Amino acid sequence: MSDPSEPEAEGRPTHRAALPDEPTEVDLRPKRGAEPALAREAEATETSSTQGDEAARAGSGITSATGMAFTRGGAASGVTTASPMILRSEEHARALALFRLVISAGLAAMVAVWLPERVSPGRWLATVVTGVTVTVTSWLLFELRDPERFDSRKLLFQGLCCVASILAVVFYVGIFSPTIIAMYIGIYFFGVGDSQGSGWAIFLSGALGYLALSVGAMTGLLRTDQAVMALYAPELPSMFAVTMVCQVLFVATFWMARRSRQATLAAFERLERATRQIKKREALLNEARAELDQERAAKQGRFTDQQVGKYAVGEIIGRGAMGEVYRGWEQGTDRPVAIKFLSAALTEDVSAVERFFREADIATRVESKHIVKVLDRGVAEGGSPFLVMELLEGADLAQILRETKRFGMAEAIDLVQQVGQALAAADESGIVHRDLKPQNLFRVQTAGRALWKVLDFGVSKVKDAAKDLTQGAAVGTPSYMSPEQARGAAVDHRADVFALGIVAYRVLTGKPAFTGPDSASTLYNVAHVQPARPSDLAKVGEDVERALALALAKETDRRFSSSMMFAAALTDAAKSRLDDRIRRDADALLETQPWGADVLQALKAENKRWRIGEAKPRNSQRPPG
Ligand SMILES: Nc1ncnc2c1ncn2[C@@H]1O[C@H](COP(=O)(O)OP(=O)(O)O)[C@@H](O)[C@H]1O
Ligand SMILES: [Mg+2]
Repeated sequence: MSDPSEPEAEGRPTHRAALPDEPTEVDLRPKRGAEPALAREAEATETSSTQGDEAARAGSGITSATGMAFTRGGAASGVTTASPMILRSEEHARALALFRLVISAGLAAMVAVWLPERVSPGRWLATVVTGVTVTVTSWLLFELRDPERFDSRKLLFQGLCCVASILAVVFYVGIFSPTIIAMYIGIYFFGVGDSQGSGWAIFLSGALGYLALSVGAMTGLLRTDQAVMALYAPELPSMFAVTMVCQVLFVATFWMARRSRQATLAAFERLERATRQIKKREALLNEARAELDQERAAKQGRFTDQQVGKYAVGEIIGRGAMGEVYRGWEQGTDRPVAIKFLSAALTEDVSAVERFFREADIATRVESKHIVKVLDRGVAEGGSPFLVMELLEGADLAQILRETKRFGMAEAIDLVQQVGQALAAADESGIVHRDLKPQNLFRVQTAGRALWKVLDFGVSKVKDAAKDLTQGAAVGTPSYMSPEQARGAAVDHRADVFALGIVAYRVLTGKPAFTGPDSASTLYNVAHVQPARPSDLAKVGEDVERALALALAKETDRRFSSSMMFAAALTDAAKSRLDDRIRRDADALLETQPWGADVLQALKAENKRWRIGEAKPRNSQRPPG
């Protein structure tokens, strides 16, 4: 036991320090005023509203450079400047590749031009123009190797040299020879480029230049019978046809290149919108977390420094839906204890008080080292009921998960096994916990293996109890409820198996299985939607997925029939040695209700099948008898 006077003892919610893997928090925490502003910032960029943007940024302290980037592009095209920037760097890489291609092709052409025996006109012209192009390109390859110096005008100049060189070589080899294909590469390259002007310039100079050559040939101004690929007695209609085909293909190539550029930009825009959305959510989440931390950090409660019964009350060490938990000391023995007071808002509510005290009865009824011990109960002077428990030193799973993204397999199995034991003991005493969730699972610090304890039997249900204190209402916490709880239907111990499945899913994947913008949609997801495939979120094997699938089966009959069975299956699954029958059950389940799917229709269809007398799919792993 630690010294109660020690200011930062474990087991007490403390203001959490920023974590290394959460850089946004490091930025945000020190200047709390900036957090809502960041959320606003994200929101403002979302709509590209310049005014709101400026106002938000003014308050946020976010550098105007980032802000500018968002507003400028946003106003121009709905695309932030980030995408053109990325595309420009891609263009730089593409340009360097083109330069290398032009240099080697140009050098090869300069040699090839001198190979044929026949002395065609234009040999010197082709050699000189290509030589100039190769020189210009080599210089640019050197000059523009630094992306910072990349300049579209220089690139255009190189492009125009290439056009001239292609036309010269085409004239030399043959106006109607396939050499013109090189022009299409140039038109496409500049067409998908960043500068629309350069695209048009290359397209027009290439297409019109070639048109001039063709017209020259058709009118007899340029001779075709002296070229390397000579045309003797050319027919006008054929030359006209080839010219038209080439021109149409020029247009088609350029059009395709521009469309491709637009499609890329649109894809970027969608991606960026999604990224902004995520940033916005992250900012909101950080804000909520910071507020939560601050709230939790408030350690002075209503009862701090008071005396209730034979207990001295210290600071608050935990909060839940029902009340506040304080550190305390038993008078005389000085034994440290935890004292839970029913929240002030509920002390007038008779059934809440009844339920609160019933928690004590239940916890004492179940014998397990994995269930927190309730030692005493009473009512404080102002009428606030309280429970006295053994004081646990450590942290609840919710606290742990705020600092650890996910658990390793061994750690997760350990948790499931120990909580499984607690639930088995509860089940033996005819008790369903109904509110199993990270806040209600406590890891006690021990020298060796972690010791997990289940807290809070506040909404638990006693089998065959004359009356259920929750009176048919959906009880529990939406994200950790079972489908039958969500529907307000009859609940048995398999609801706890489901909740344990959600806890296992959460610690193994790092993500909650069921969430939603509000309770109603969370409950819908619990009842009708399968969580995302675990192996998409973390490294888990197929057998582990199967075990999770059966723990999270929407229909109670297909679920593991006890939490111990789930624990055992998960242990086998981790070694990829899951029982064949369980594998079959899980595969059959996942076939009709796959991960990530809305299974409402599948559930309805299955219900219908049972009604018309087909065998109900059951979990074959049932306990004997
Ligand atoms: N015996 C205990 N020792 C240490 N911390 C406790 C103890 N009981 C509860 N807590 C802390 O207080 C929080 C709320 O307790 P809980 O019993 O779940 O209250 P509620 O019924 O209001 O949800 C827990 O999440 C845990 O962090
Ligand atoms: Mg609780």
